[in-house]
Amino acid sequence: MSSTIETTRLGTDGPVVGVQGLGCMGMSEFYGPTDTGEALATLERALELGVTLFDTADVYGSGANEELIGPFVRAHREQVVLATKFAIERRADDPHYRGINNDPAYVRRAVDASLRRLGVDVIDLYYMHRRDPQVPLAESVGAMAELVAAGKVRHLGLSEVTGPELREAHAVHPIAALQSEWSIFARGVERSAVPAAAELGVALVPYSPLGRGFLTGAFADAGQLDAGDYRRHLPQFTGENAAGNAELVAPIGKIAERRGATAAQVALAWLHQRTEVHGLTAVVPIPGTRRRTRLEENLGATRLVLDKEELAELEPISARVSGGRYADMSSTADAREV
Ligand SMILES: NC(=O)c1ccc[n+]([C@@H]2O[C@H](COP(=O)([O-])OP(=O)(O)OC[C@H]3O[C@@H](n4cnc5c(N)ncnc54)[C@H](OP(=O)(O)O)[C@@H]3O)[C@@H](O)[C@H]2O)c1
Repeated sequence: MSSTIETTRLGTDGPVVGVQGLGCMGMSEFYGPTDTGEALATLERALELGVTLFDTADVYGSGANEELIGPFVRAHREQVVLATKFAIERRADDPHYRGINNDPAYVRRAVDASLRRLGVDVIDLYYMHRRDPQVPLAESVGAMAELVAAGKVRHLGLSEVTGPELREAHAVHPIAALQSEWSIFARGVERSAVPAAAELGVALVPYSPLGRGFLTGAFADAGQLDAGDYRRHLPQFTGENAAGNAELVAPIGKIAERRGATAAQVALAWLHQRTEVHGLTAVVPIPGTRRRTRLEENLGATRLVLDKEELAELEPISARVSGGRYADMSSTADAREV
């Protein structure tokens, strides 16, 4: 495979990126053992094939993921659109601890730490990873806007916010992209955030577009995964939920078979087609993979267009999914939807 993918713009005056990005999280943590050599080769291959949006966060590997991709970003600084995030704090003495911090003083500290780990002087797209409703949104986004003015950040994004929150933030400073979980399985974002994004011209960057691998049929129960795999803690992939949910993915595989495609390509094509369905300016999924073979497979989705009947077959799936996206949903947008 050698042809490059098409491009699109994030937000009304945000960066131009390849229509599919690359999620780098699994290269450092969460989804089983990692191979640094293959991960770095995957980054290079992605860029060769037209992927320009590379997604990390300060929390992935507690900074290790930013350090991993830093040399790659620096080597291709003009082509790479670097996205990272702040707001989730961890503790060295408790691997399960997650705190949400949106304080302006924390935002200023976090960006400097990310810039240092990445070894760059500007971040192209800086997201607030999670919202802390105790801190007024205008204060947090105001602090992010100051980073733009200071030249540390080029564009702003939010993750896991509701439609009203997106509107409120956008009134403080233009938001280029909303990154939230969106897939054939997870469609809560369509409730208020997607309509608001369509109206404001904010791009959608769906995370976990393959349902963390579940939609591809790569595993049917998280019990099959390594002992340290994060997905073993996610309700949708364990116990009775897993058995029921594994049956729900069958139509994805059947469509793939009929089209001579793979389930991953069908899941991603479904997302690419959301642009038109919801009147969005751009939808740029960021499937995560640690391997070149899967990267190439996933980019095949940009050449697959599902027809009306296929879309209709996939439509009822999300309403039948059992179990939450996270064991603790309290910091997700769903928890604040009214
Ligand atoms: N904003 C947020 O709160 C948030 C939350 C989660 C993730 N993210 C971002 O979104 C990115 C993507 O999400 P994600 O990694 O959670 O989930 P995902 O992209 O839905 O799935 C990734 C998983 O699927 C596997 N996979 C990838 N391509 C495959 C294929 N063609 N066939 C079979 N399996 C395949 C990967 O394994 P291999 O590595 O072995 O291919 C990995 O285990 C992350 O990397 C991260 O940057 C953001």
